[in-house]
Amino acid sequence: MASENSKNILVSKEELDKQKEYSSLVRMVIQTRFGNRTPMAFVHTFGCQGNVADSERLKGMLEEMGFGFVDSPEDADISLFNTCAIREHAEDRLFGNVGALKKIKEKNSDFKIVLCGCMMQQEHVAQRIKNSYPFVDIVFGTHVAHKLPELLYRSLSTGKRVFDVGDSDGVIAENLPLHRDSNFKAWLPIMYGCNNFCSYCIVPYVRGRERSRSSEVIIAEAKELVKNGYKEITLLGQNVNSYGNDREGEMNFSSLLRQINAIDGDFIIRFMTSHPKDCTHELLDTMAECEKVAKHLHLPVQCGNDRVLKEMNRGYTSEKYLSLLTYARSVMPDLSVTSDIIVGFPGETYDEFCDTLKLMEKAEYTSLYTFIFSPREGTRAAKMDDPVTREEKGKWFSELCGLQESIAAKRTAGMLGKEYRVLCESKAKKDGIISGRTQGNIIIEFPADDSVIGTFQTVKVTEALIWMLKGELSNS
Ligand code: 5AD
Ligand code: SF4
Repeated sequence: MASENSKNILVSKEELDKQKEYSSLVRMVIQTRFGNRTPMAFVHTFGCQGNVADSERLKGMLEEMGFGFVDSPEDADISLFNTCAIREHAEDRLFGNVGALKKIKEKNSDFKIVLCGCMMQQEHVAQRIKNSYPFVDIVFGTHVAHKLPELLYRSLSTGKRVFDVGDSDGVIAENLPLHRDSNFKAWLPIMYGCNNFCSYCIVPYVRGRERSRSSEVIIAEAKELVKNGYKEITLLGQNVNSYGNDREGEMNFSSLLRQINAIDGDFIIRFMTSHPKDCTHELLDTMAECEKVAKHLHLPVQCGNDRVLKEMNRGYTSEKYLSLLTYARSVMPDLSVTSDIIVGFPGETYDEFCDTLKLMEKAEYTSLYTFIFSPREGTRAAKMDDPVTREEKGKWFSELCGLQESIAAKRTAGMLGKEYRVLCESKAKKDGIISGRTQGNIIIEFPADDSVIGTFQTVKVTEALIWMLKGELSNS
């Protein structure tokens, strides 16, 4: 895609201005309806960090329209679910949650129910809502999120149901209002969509083609975040390694990392997700050389068997993957690597699954996100023969989790007695205990008062559990 096209996918200033006008109209309607009371919105996000970042924009628009936020739909005037389509389980959960909203609507007919995000982009889901969930007011897909003010105004002014789930390759909407959930950790989307079409994955169908934001805009946003005291910036994209490929003359991801690393200030940079097929030595060298880039690499392998990897359309072999890790660790000896694994891809045999266990022993992951294959309508894998029962896959899954526990325990045991720079994030469940994260993305809990939240502290590891550490503040 050339730069010309990059311009075409930007939502126009006229369109954004139009949405601002709708925003003012909604403000007027709700003022008449609620008087001096601030109307409240409940926003719930399912799925990945990309969705969390989208929700921060949806909240920004709601805030601009005059809404405040509450933590429960019972206390809200509008309830918005930003949905995920990655696995079947997500669909069941959503419909359970939506069913529960019906009771609120029965008590308060003005209560608005809004569903948006990836799952709405699937035709069968939109149909199911149309036919079986008549109390849902507004449904919109991933490509029109910037139109929330218009859709809400239409619903408020006509009382009719509003559906906008048209398919498209996707757009980029800049300059939307933003309501960030944290004042020290920020999500920074650098690109949207995916071109990879891994055979099991729904994302390319519901999120459209890869669209990179301009580096100028990204760097300006990062500078603003640092200026406002943010301590951690996570760059987001389905495959950040292909950043810039769709914009003629744009810098690549390594250069973008270097530019953000060069911003003055005390902060760390994280990024996700990296696709192994596009992970280069240049990127790993860049990570090693940039002092602000956390030494954590999330590099989803999905599986350790080459035939299955090919069927998954992943574009690398287990050997190529492991050689990347070897190189990465040669330039970053303390690197923490995490991964995603799918167990029970259609046609995978037990012997093939054992190749994944072998790879895990070599990869020595800090932690893993593991999933049993879930057929997604419209993907190639959903049509493939899948003879292994769910019960059998469950056994493989447990075997894999057991192995990862012993690998993780060994890794955390090696951290005992060492000191780490930790970003303090929140209060832990126990009084007087703070929870933070090491650069390698391992949770560590230690006694401290709340004032450390949002700061970096040096913490010494005093106890190593399997998935987390305990420690104490170092007084140095
Ligand atoms: N079934 C199971 N897991 C899936 N993932 C994506 N699609 C599926 C599916 N159909 C997992 C992959 C991906 C992570 C975000 O979700 O491991 O990396
Ligand atoms: Fe899905 Fe593959 Fe794209 Fe990741 S790279 S979002 S797994 S299609």
